[in-house]
Amino acid sequence: MKYELKPVEAKDVASLSSIFSDYFPAESTSHSFENQIKLALTNTQLDGFALYGQGAQAIAVVFANKSLAKPNYGYVRFLHVHSSVKQDDHQSYENSEYRLFDAVFSHLKETCTTIKFDSHYKKPSDTLQNYLAKLGFQRIVRIDMVVHKSDMKTLVEPELPSGYEFVPWSKAMKTSTAKLLVEINDQSIDNLLLPFFTTIGGCERFVQDMVDSSFGGLGEECTRVLTYDKEPIGICFLTRISSNTINIPEVGILPAHRRKGLGKALVIHSFSNLTTTHPDFGEVSLTVTLDNVVAAKLYESLGFKRIKETIDLIWQNHNN
Ligand SMILES: CC(C)(COP(=O)(O)OP(=O)(O)OC[C@H]1O[C@@H](n2cnc3c(N)ncnc32)[C@H](O)[C@@H]1OP(=O)(O)O)[C@@H](O)C(=O)NCCC(=O)NCCS
Repeated sequence: MKYELKPVEAKDVASLSSIFSDYFPAESTSHSFENQIKLALTNTQLDGFALYGQGAQAIAVVFANKSLAKPNYGYVRFLHVHSSVKQDDHQSYENSEYRLFDAVFSHLKETCTTIKFDSHYKKPSDTLQNYLAKLGFQRIVRIDMVVHKSDMKTLVEPELPSGYEFVPWSKAMKTSTAKLLVEINDQSIDNLLLPFFTTIGGCERFVQDMVDSSFGGLGEECTRVLTYDKEPIGICFLTRISSNTINIPEVGILPAHRRKGLGKALVIHSFSNLTTTHPDFGEVSLTVTLDNVVAAKLYESLGFKRIKETIDLIWQNHNN
């Protein structure tokens, strides 16, 4: 069958709804996603391509954009071919995936030094993963972890060594904590996945996004900074992402202060504040890169269990 590839405009988004609902099992999620896409196509640098078969119905769609914090960092988002195509003709299904991917990859490659295939909602098929590997994409596994409130009761907060102190986070600390986040994440694998960690401006936007509730709303009353000689050296942000779930979007200790039990103490201390400030929560969640063995071990020692694996695929232009 012949397919035609066309750029997607905001006015076309409603006609893609059958692809969105095929991708998201829950209808409500697909509906809000449709609105987000419409807004993003109109207001930001989001670009979309759709494949149309015979007739006006699109059978597949892909979106791509550049990071606001780092314009040379590109994302390929939401690549999906309608599952009916797979049932009808497996070869066409795979070819459609490759064609969609090539469309955005060749477009982003012109200006981006790093490109991430974002697979937050759905794991890419094995054939697509193999295709991306051939193009030079590196596979990074991310793990979602959860600890239930009942399993947190046994945690005992250790005493801090002399000179160290926990202080509450406040909006006045936005820039100082943004600087801290850049130093904490220097050389970390998360920089590759989350490029905003490499610049103070990017980290300020990340903090502001938490405050503005894009991450569910910052739990300011339970977010703590760890200081040494009154200078910030560690932070544990907590956000509320649902009535039941508190999320840790970021925790870190400056390299010079690591391996002293401070990271663990900071998380346990943040949890003890949580039980007073948000007594009705049920669980704490977070996401960690599988290769970040230190952080994963720390979370496991606190009772976190692995619940889901996500695969990110990253391409870097090694000529730059
Ligand atoms: C992860 C991080 C916060 C740990 O901080 P830390 O103060 O060094 O950790 P702690 O000294 O409290 O160690 C706690 C546990 O982590 C593990 N751990 C710490 N350092 C380790 C190392 N170098 N190798 C293996 N395990 C290690 C141990 O299980 C340790 O528990 P134990 O002492 O009972 O054995 C710190 O390494 C960091 O800031 N990393 C960069 C930012 C980051 O990756 N954040 C997590 C994002 S998801």
